[in-house]
Amino acid sequence: MVNRIKQYLHTEWMGTTIVYEEEMDSTNLRAKLIADENVTNGTLVVAKRQTLGRGRLGRQWCSPEGNAYFSLMLNPDVHTEYVSRITLVAALALEKSLSKIADLPIRIKWPNDIVVSGRKLCGILTEAKVCSDGLEYVIVGVGINANQKEFDASIRDMATSLLNELGREVDIPQLIAEFLNEFEVCYNQFLQTQDLSLLLDDYNRSLVHYNQPVRVIGEDEMIGISKGISESGALLLQTEDGRLEYIIAGELSVRGLYGYV
Ligand code: BTN
Repeated sequence: MVNRIKQYLHTEWMGTTIVYEEEMDSTNLRAKLIADENVTNGTLVVAKRQTLGRGRLGRQWCSPEGNAYFSLMLNPDVHTEYVSRITLVAALALEKSLSKIADLPIRIKWPNDIVVSGRKLCGILTEAKVCSDGLEYVIVGVGINANQKEFDASIRDMATSLLNELGREVDIPQLIAEFLNEFEVCYNQFLQTQDLSLLLDDYNRSLVHYNQPVRVIGEDEMIGISKGISESGALLLQTEDGRLEYIIAGELSVRGLYGYV
């Protein structure tokens, strides 16, 4: 796996060190253990399968063999408030890398899901350690449904894989390397400004619900037209009375009016 990833990798610093095992509890948990000892910017942790794959909001991420599971350790000099922006940067890099490999209409569902044909293809879980001096490290964990054929009944209508969409298997080391190749470029751009101003146009072009009606789910429900993201990564929602609301990621989630996307 490690040599196969390196074969496709042309980054300057991301993925220079790769930690690989066939089975891990969770690549995010392992990356955190490693970072607690010694934070090395750009270290990549990869597993073939996970026994305790973790998703957002405390959910489980089912992780059978055949998909891509990896976490990247980062040590950015950014304000802790801006960490969530890194997830959007990763989403854009995923969209770019997967679109290169697979001829599919791959899109971003704000803030950080990757979808195709109305179903979720990838998930990103970003976790950070903050100390009194500020940010100690950030772990960006990515799961890509690559060669999985069957999904659990509970997610069957919402999830898909590259295999199911393309009708052929994909090469996991290549998926991981191409993601890092794109992510390094996007992340370096993010670091220049600490916001999404240099990535905004690409992100909005890839947004599945750009200029579409969406329902924002939170304490109160809001319906409006998605006008893309702001430089801070907030979703701009044009409400029926013409106001522009800034929706902050993590507080609310977005659905199309008629389904998951
Ligand atoms: C989501 O809920 O959408 C995020 C899922 C993130 C899953 C990945 S798989 C690799 C890394 N390790 C984990 O335990 N989770 C992330």
